[in-house]
Amino acid sequence: MKPQTSSLFDQLNDAAEYLRSHTDFKPKTGLILGTGLGGLVDKIELHKKWDYATIPHFPESTVQGHEGSLLMGHLAGEAVIVLNGRFHYYEGYSAKELTFPTRLLCHLGIERIFISNVAGSVNPQYQAGHVVIVKDHINMQPDNPLRGPNDDRIGIRFPDLTNAYDRKLRELASSTMSKMKMIAHQGVYVGLQGPNLETAAEYKMLRTIGGDLVGMSTVQEVLVTNHMRVPVLVTSLVSNECHDVGNLCETTVEQVLEVAKTGGEKLQELWLAMLGSFADENL
Ligand code: HPA
Repeated sequence: MKPQTSSLFDQLNDAAEYLRSHTDFKPKTGLILGTGLGGLVDKIELHKKWDYATIPHFPESTVQGHEGSLLMGHLAGEAVIVLNGRFHYYEGYSAKELTFPTRLLCHLGIERIFISNVAGSVNPQYQAGHVVIVKDHINMQPDNPLRGPNDDRIGIRFPDLTNAYDRKLRELASSTMSKMKMIAHQGVYVGLQGPNLETAAEYKMLRTIGGDLVGMSTVQEVLVTNHMRVPVLVTSLVSNECHDVGNLCETTVEQVLEVAKTGGEKLQELWLAMLGSFADENL
């Protein structure tokens, strides 16, 4: 007989029970830290930390030294649960596998989730180092985490995406950025599979179809947060400018990481200010 594989719902319950067997901490905001936001980890008033490898049904890391950890604690007074380390489609995971950690955060009953990434800009107004609030996406990834039989206990079959990037969270991000004297762009993120960057002709096409930013993550995670009806805020850090397609410079990992380091500070400040305002609401 074929071994019974447990349903996604059962797997989420297994993982949630495992975490709850160690703590009754109740996180309110989930955070997925992209490149440049790792520094936030040091600012957490840590309650508990787990290596991904110890949590039931988490994907296995393919990159040694990038195992990742899940943390609970307080940031700017807000109770948070944090995914420090991301799984990408280009690493070979299916969309279902790579979104399991995001689903777990939603399953634990968080009220909202923040996601960050680095992205190339195809909008000429966006400069390297700018932070952009994502207002919508164009999904050009070849896999979809919602494909296959739907479990109504998790979410509905055909989730509506008209407010996929929660309007209220975007407004709060925008007003917080204005107070911080940051330019508050709101743009459309195009999600591609990677791992290569794009050709000049592709960057031109992405602008033509209505894109402002391009990257290799996030859209899959946003699909599951919408499936599970958890409001999501996505902020992108522009790492490379890809709009002057006649004069494109080569993009290197070093350059992306350098911009992520400097621009990441501003993005961290933005998240901390927003988390602080949620914490104040709870007082
Ligand atoms: N293309 C795709 N993904 C990216 C880029 C890019 O130019 N920059 C950072 N992530």
